[in-house]
Amino acid sequence: FELGLLSGRHVLINAGPTREAIDPVRYISNHSSGKMGFALAEAAAEAGARVTLVAGPVNLPTPPRVQRIDVTTAVEMLAACEQALPADLFIASAAVADYRPAQCAPGKLKKDTTREDGMTLHLVRNPDILATLATHARRPAYCVGFAAETDDVLGYASDKLTRKNLDLIVANDISQAGIGFNSDDNAVTLIDRSLTPQPLPQASKQKLARQIIARIAQHLNPPA
Ligand code: C5P
Repeated sequence: FELGLLSGRHVLINAGPTREAIDPVRYISNHSSGKMGFALAEAAAEAGARVTLVAGPVNLPTPPRVQRIDVTTAVEMLAACEQALPADLFIASAAVADYRPAQCAPGKLKKDTTREDGMTLHLVRNPDILATLATHARRPAYCVGFAAETDDVLGYASDKLTRKNLDLIVANDISQAGIGFNSDDNAVTLIDRSLTPQPLPQASKQKLARQIIARIAQHLNPPA
């Protein structure tokens, strides 16, 4: 891992979950801890990049020399990412909620005592931040996505690479215990446009982040 690997580059990373309000006290979210994205931001800064980290609600300290922008919703996260352009590299590690409530109720929703069976919440699609930036007029030269899957991990990941117009996808199998969501370790497989999977065995998210950043830097700085 070389320290000057990304000097002069602007690296944009998003991380953590998004939180979509149902009413003033309730929301839809997920278990993303943001650890992998924060580790990537730290590694990119160590590699000499200027790093912008757009973070959903997480409980993590900001890595040294990283500019952090805190957001709550997917719509806010997209706006903050677009505002941070231009960037040489975009890493979409955030677990963006695919749907949000069609509206946030102005007051706390009350139980409907006239109905025993349940209630219906109307959801609408959120923007796909990664697909938006990867097809943007100011597209970062290298766009990286994450694929957390429970079955046919490599199949879905390769499909996502093509569908979202990505340069690299980091696939992790969230069905394996002890890695992935919220844990300190991870094990991933990198898939680029050659569709040749490169497995990175289980390690701390810090160590994996350095390996991923080194691998990406090779593509940004092709050997002469
Ligand atoms: O399609 P799927 O959600 O599995 O793709 C995961 C990748 O897409 C991740 O890199 C995630 O950050 C990104 N994504 C996004 N906006 C969404 C959904 C996913 O940027 N609304």
